[in-house]
Amino acid sequence: MSEIARIEVGGKVYEYPVVEGTEGEKGIDILKFRADSGYITLDEGFGNTGSCRSAITFIDGGKGILRYRGIPIEQLAEKSSFVETSFLVIYGHLPNKEELKKFSMSLTQEAPLHENIHQNFNGFSTNGHPMAILSSMINAMSTYHPDLLEVDGDEQFYSAAVRLISKVRTIAAAAYRTSKGLPLNYPKKGSNYAKNFLELMFSNPHEQHVPSEEAIKALNLFLLLHADHEQNCSTSTVRMVASSGANMFTACSAGVCALWGPLHGGANMAVLQMLEDIEKNGVSVNDYVNRVKDKKSGIKLMGFGHRVYKNFDPRAKILQTAAKNLLDKMHIQDKKLEIAQELADIALHDEYFIERNLYPNVDFYSGLILSALNIPLDMFTVMFAIGRMPGWIANWKEVHDNKKGKISRPRQIYTGPTENDFIARDNR
Ligand code: CMC
Repeated sequence: MSEIARIEVGGKVYEYPVVEGTEGEKGIDILKFRADSGYITLDEGFGNTGSCRSAITFIDGGKGILRYRGIPIEQLAEKSSFVETSFLVIYGHLPNKEELKKFSMSLTQEAPLHENIHQNFNGFSTNGHPMAILSSMINAMSTYHPDLLEVDGDEQFYSAAVRLISKVRTIAAAAYRTSKGLPLNYPKKGSNYAKNFLELMFSNPHEQHVPSEEAIKALNLFLLLHADHEQNCSTSTVRMVASSGANMFTACSAGVCALWGPLHGGANMAVLQMLEDIEKNGVSVNDYVNRVKDKKSGIKLMGFGHRVYKNFDPRAKILQTAAKNLLDKMHIQDKKLEIAQELADIALHDEYFIERNLYPNVDFYSGLILSALNIPLDMFTVMFAIGRMPGWIANWKEVHDNKKGKISRPRQIYTGPTENDFIARDNR
């Protein structure tokens, strides 16, 4: 018999069905609660609220499990590529050879931007943050594809999805080059996704950049590990925008905006800034940890803690090893890696962090990889956005395809003034 939850409020008992996911996690379906009782539930930050049913990504934060479409992240990190994983995340199965070939070719074909869109980059200030440029340009892209604003059928969906995944890297590189006053590069046909991005970033008219195999491999891994992460802030934003019926471009552009903040994707940038500050100012790691623990300081240990992972973040584990390997292979001696390791060692043995289940998250080590790849600091969150694009698209699709779906429209508990009269201007 299916489980029933009883909520007693205002002297009455209401019954609601318990729904269960394929991995056994349970939720109380309170869809009719307000209509039945007149009460709403209040859950600031949505820590206890399931906003949807989704078949894309599974996380068990207690056990440090992350799976895309059922496949453990560790296996994908070892055996897959960003492009293959993007297909998996979006379509729900690993591509066969033909599907992968077609998908990769479409991504290569769609890499160049419409020539006119290059003009748009000139409209931004040279100091403009690349996240602002990225989000604006993703939205601007929609004006070049009016036929894809209404997605009706598989082919149209495919066209919009490959354009977004492919062009986001071209736009990202162009945003960086614009901010540096450098000429924009055109994508090359023979290069795979990650290689192409590095060429777009670092080639110059007089010198074609040739990225090393280690660099390509590390970037591929970075992107793959960011491909999706269930109902995080930016993905929830994409779903919320999609719930109004808005198109894929504009929903993903909103995702970029949500990702920008330092508590979300902006943390990778904040981590490196923190490590640089510690290095430059000669603060001891112990002192820094003590400052973090002093609530009055208002300082957080960036790259630590997670709303869902309360044991370890499996992506951080993979990236910790990858960062070390990359720096070794590139013969880079980065003091910041030492500081990061020291910080992690101290924090992981400190009561403050143990009590609160605070562990290194994906952003703690990813910045070290990006900085070894010469990616400038203000591009770090842009890199996260490139990686997250398949997840946003897959989530947009779930919302779009759910014909019984409703617009996302939460309620509130009003705390403002009660009714009072307008006071004439002369009497105020
Ligand atoms: N350093 C110091 N204290 C922390 C930290 C931290 N990084 N994170 C949480 N705490 C404390 C927090 O002050 C609170 O303490 P108390 O119970 O005494 O008030 C307790 O731990 C619980 O924290 P919370 O803020 O209620 O947890 P949350 O689930 O709302 O926030 C978080 C999760 C990721 C926003 C938070 O841990 C944080 O701000 N971390 C630093 C920023 C960061 O690395 N963000 C990247 C997240 S992973 C990538 C992504 O998904 O975007």
